[in-house]
Amino acid sequence: MSAAADTLRPATSPLQLVREDLRGFAGYQSARSQRLQGQVWLNANESPWCNDADREGTLRRYPDPQPQALRSALAELYGCAPAQLLAGRGSDEGIDLLVRAVCRPGGDAVLVTTPTFGMYAVSARLHGTRVVDVPLSETAQGWQCDFAAIAAAVRRDGVKLVFLCSPGNPTGALLALEDIAALARELDGQALVVVDEAYLEYADAPSAIGLLPGQRNVVVLRTLSKAHALAAARIGSVIADADLIEVLRRCQAPYPLPAACTAQALQALAPVARARTVERVAAIRSERDVLRSALSSLTCVRRAYDSRANFVLARFDDAQAAFDRLLAAGVVVRDMRAAAGLEDALRISLGTPEQNRQVLSVLSMPAEGAP
Ligand SMILES: Cc1ncc(COP(=O)(O)O)c(C=O)c1O
Repeated sequence: MSAAADTLRPATSPLQLVREDLRGFAGYQSARSQRLQGQVWLNANESPWCNDADREGTLRRYPDPQPQALRSALAELYGCAPAQLLAGRGSDEGIDLLVRAVCRPGGDAVLVTTPTFGMYAVSARLHGTRVVDVPLSETAQGWQCDFAAIAAAVRRDGVKLVFLCSPGNPTGALLALEDIAALARELDGQALVVVDEAYLEYADAPSAIGLLPGQRNVVVLRTLSKAHALAAARIGSVIADADLIEVLRRCQAPYPLPAACTAQALQALAPVARARTVERVAAIRSERDVLRSALSSLTCVRRAYDSRANFVLARFDDAQAAFDRLLAAGVVVRDMRAAAGLEDALRISLGTPEQNRQVLSVLSMPAEGAP
């Protein structure tokens, strides 16, 4: 089919990709999900009195499963409709829900592009779903994703979910939106293309959310854990076709969002706090480029990759020695050596400017025993 004809074809409903046995599934009907009116609430076996520790009296009742204020604030932040967004316990929960709602245990497969975030494969494994890997390849320009090989593997191996990570963890590489769009068009009706944008704020690049109106098999994961500095609040979002969001909600736990976390997130999404987030992100971006080029110039570093995220991946002549020296100085970085193809690599998250200087100063000291 020509490219022009291809774009005219209406995108298929992603409901076709949901497990057949879950398409009409109502899920658990919690007391909060029934839209009833009243003054005296005796339908959820809650305590009529507050705990003494609950000074503000906000914890006695089960929380709203999807608080409208939070959903609207997140939708506004990401530029989608509230009906296209499901809030949950970090994007980790989004990954898990997608695997469970779409893949038949023992039947379908998910596709990952290693090296990548480990939770895609962990969720698949826990669900009894096969994992197909189309590894990224490394070139002088950085990490490359083989979109043609992904499309071929989807057709060949019964893949229903493709997990792309952009910017990638641990590579830091950004995928081109046109390539993601072309893949989603090609896989229309065959697989969901999930774009994990946990680090997109650091990349200053457009989100795949912009593809959604035309391409219903695109799913985007976002989180407040990174740029918004709220990892402990555990607030992540799945952004997708509204019909698919409805299905995921029915597969989700009855009360996924603790009230205190919702309250914190709402404060963090107020205009002043959002302006501070922009400042923090700008600081990380300028520090990142300094750290990457300084790492590249160290004799113990074989290669430090360009990054669009808040970390730098680097290969070392002796990664164990670099890891140990940092640890001895009290600096803990991520050892990537268990990942295929990264046997000499460490991933270093950006810290404060002082912490980044400390990393460089430890790594630039001559190794013990060196002449
Ligand atoms: C690429 C990627 N996706 C998702 C997550 C999970 O984030 P959350 O805290 O929202 O569960 C992480 C966490 O490190 C990540 O690196």
